[in-house]
This record gives sequence, C-alpha cells and structure tokens, in this order.
Amino acid sequence: MDRSEKFALTLGIFFLIILFGAVLYAKSQSGVDLPGCVTDVEPYSEGKVDTLDDNRFQIQYVARMWLFMPMEVKLPVGSEVDIYVVSHDVVHGLQIVGTDVNLMAVPGAIAYKKYKFDKPGVYYVRCHEYCGVGHQNMEAKIIVE
Ligand code: CUA
Repeated sequence: MDRSEKFALTLGIFFLIILFGAVLYAKSQSGVDLPGCVTDVEPYSEGKVDTLDDNRFQIQYVARMWLFMPMEVKLPVGSEVDIYVVSHDVVHGLQIVGTDVNLMAVPGAIAYKKYKFDKPGVYYVRCHEYCGVGHQNMEAKIIVE
C-alpha cells in the first residue's frame, strides 16, 4: 500500500471515530434524542391519536400515497408526544416543520421520536422524501392551542 493511501485511510478512520464519538456524546450528555426504529410497538395499520394522561399523547401516523393519517391533530400547549410513523407503500419522510422531528417512513419499520410542543401554533407535518407525483401535497397538521 502506498504511503498516501495509508494516510487517507488513517484519516478516514480517524474522522469516523470522531463522528461516532460526537453522536454518542450528544446522546448521553446533552439529552439529544436520536430518532430510532422501534421494535417493541405492535404493528398498526390505522392512523390514530391516544391520550396517555393530561399532557402526554401518542400519535401513530400512517404514511401512504399521498397523505398522512391522522390528517389533523389538536393538542394542548405543553404536550409531550410520542410520534410513530409507518409506511404502507413506498418510502416517505415525516418532518414537522419548525421542530427537530424528522423521520423516515420505511415499509416494514416503525420510526419513533418524542417531542414536546411548548409553543402554540399550527405545525405542518410534511413528507420530505420524493414519493411520487402527489409528493408535494402530502401534508398534515398539528394544532397546538
Ligand atoms: Cu411521501 Cu413524499
């Protein structure tokens, strides 16, 4: 192996270690909640909202060409929400504009993120993955009041 190849390989490995270290540090120290694929949730086929207690909710989104179900959810300010998404056809994305919620909706997998809605307003739920001719119309709303 050439010296410059060894150098490039070492540099690449070094930056990978830095990257994974930074991700693990962010997760353990600063409370950054990484999106994940959950396996302990029963597969579901209907979009719905469940009330867990006064300010804890669970939204189970179903993404399919070209809508999200449920299309509109109303929540009180300060709600802590467990957000799940599953796709019933192709790969979609679920982004809640103005938040750090950004999930992939992959058929056969359930993606998860927890989010606290501290500010009142209308939050748009949009598909961020090109999924066909109706992609740009794929939108739902969360109304926090
Ligand atoms: Cu679903 Cu784009």
